[in-house]
Amino acid sequence: MKHLLSVSDLADDELDHLTAPEIDTTENRGVRGGLMSCVFEQPSLRTASGFAAAAVQLGLAPVFIDVRGHEVRRDLDLYDELEQLCMTSQLVVVRTSHPITADALENCESPVVNAGDGDNEHPTQALVDLAAIRRHFPDGCRVLQMGNLRGHRTQHSLSLALSRMGFSVQHVSPAGLPMPERFSGGVTTVQTSDPDHVDSLLSLADIVYMTPVKYWDNPQAKDPAFELNASRALRVLRPGAKVLHPLPRCGELHRDVDSLAFNGYHDQLRGALNVRTKAMRLLFSR
Ligand code: CP
Repeated sequence: MKHLLSVSDLADDELDHLTAPEIDTTENRGVRGGLMSCVFEQPSLRTASGFAAAAVQLGLAPVFIDVRGHEVRRDLDLYDELEQLCMTSQLVVVRTSHPITADALENCESPVVNAGDGDNEHPTQALVDLAAIRRHFPDGCRVLQMGNLRGHRTQHSLSLALSRMGFSVQHVSPAGLPMPERFSGGVTTVQTSDPDHVDSLLSLADIVYMTPVKYWDNPQAKDPAFELNASRALRVLRPGAKVLHPLPRCGELHRDVDSLAFNGYHDQLRGALNVRTKAMRLLFSR
């Protein structure tokens, strides 16, 4: 598979290599010139800047092509657009509100990377997340994935990756927002809004992976049982536990957690450059 649309497009040894705890800085040397084109139909801060930084490391010029804001866009065929972009670009990164299908990319000459496709997947974010988990706990750990597990694509890709790597995982969501079966790795989501129940799961986790309850399909949603502030963190989390969050946060992860040792999300973000650079190198080597 030339493209990276899902964590399932990576072989076991590739998944292991991309998320290994050791950081090899020699890997960040420039390797080629050319263009990395980014087509983002939905907003992005972290992924967009992360890919741009990785492109620069590899000697590629990042170009962001703005495709929003015109009615005619609605009638265009995204796959045809990607195919044409591949004729001028060494790599195409795409974020869209619909699932991307590999068959439709058959004629794309360059690798296409999924930077988030609707409520489906976000594979490079999962690589960043798994790499952070492995840096903190190289010998394995218990991971709690919490929040809106139905809608959040970062949760989906991470669940697939964790189950491939044999991590002990629990899923907890408010009622009606469980992890879809195809991403669950056989884990059944605990569906509850009882804060005591969520506390009991939090207290067992080495890694707490949070995303908002709010999402594109339920922008008003909120659930206090899925919020973490400093006092709750200090009361229920295990010493040594780390909180990860792919951000942006929407009220579920309070800023007063930032100064606690539980904050693993800033390190998670800092590690992203190395992971995305490795992933791009891998795609160029296939
Ligand atoms: N993690 C993530 O997808 O964030 P952005 O929406 O800012 O890219």
